[in-house]
Amino acid sequence: MNARPSAPTTVDVVARALHDELVAARARRGGAAPRVLDVGGGSGTWAVPLAAEGCEVTVVDSSANALAVLRSRARDAGVADQVRAVQGDVDALADIDGDVGADLVLGHGLLEYVDDPAAAVRALATATAPGAAVSVLVAGRWAAVLARVVAGRVAEARRLLADPAGRWGRNDPLLRRMDTGEVRELLERDGGLVVEQVRGHRVLADLVPEAPDGGGGASDLAALEELAADTPPLRDLASRIHVMARRR
Ligand SMILES: C[S@@+](CC[C@H](N)C(=O)[O-])C[C@H]1O[C@@H](n2cnc3c(N)ncnc32)[C@H](O)[C@@H]1O
Repeated sequence: MNARPSAPTTVDVVARALHDELVAARARRGGAAPRVLDVGGGSGTWAVPLAAEGCEVTVVDSSANALAVLRSRARDAGVADQVRAVQGDVDALADIDGDVGADLVLGHGLLEYVDDPAAAVRALATATAPGAAVSVLVAGRWAAVLARVVAGRVAEARRLLADPAGRWGRNDPLLRRMDTGEVRELLERDGGLVVEQVRGHRVLADLVPEAPDGGGGASDLAALEELAADTPPLRDLASRIHVMARRR
């Protein structure tokens, strides 16, 4: 199925950026379905909606359990034919998906977990077709400090603030959190990519328990979110930092 992508119904700044990129990728391919490579794609939070937008998606993930959930979600969404699930590590990406570069490569929620983020970024860049984009989403370091203070976990907040990797302790499941400058540098220096956009994801949405309903509150919040995503220092306080970068 090669349905043309329709614009995302929610105002999610990352979903919007991916949608715009896929429209351009489809045009570059003369109307053919864009090929998306989602590394660390897990259970398909991004992959399944992108397949529903008409993309051919390959998910590479080290977790067999996550891939089992992905297959089931893809079946339920009626896009099983458009989603390929491959168990593998980002370090071995070249062995998995070697022949043609992807029209869009995702590394969402990945760099926090890998041993060598520079090597991971190089692998993402190599898997991308010339002129195509890489989308990276990574946990924001400053939002994590604020979230712990608000939760009353002041000691953790202090450790997180002082730690070069942005961790709150040895039991922190994340190996690192980043600020906007760190993600940009990683993609430019190690990936050799041209960074086009650095935005905050869920700058404000994670500060309120749920979107207010009625009276236009939800759409007001969405409009504010869109603006805050691009506005430092609010952008830099986002739960996750989103970067769109392009291979030369
Ligand atoms: C936080 S989840 C992110 C899932 C999805 N991308 C998202 O944004 O919702 C991280 C995923 O990365 C996978 N992962 C961690 N290290 C990996 C590696 N070295 N190579 C491939 N996948 C990895 C995990 O199995 C997990 O599914």
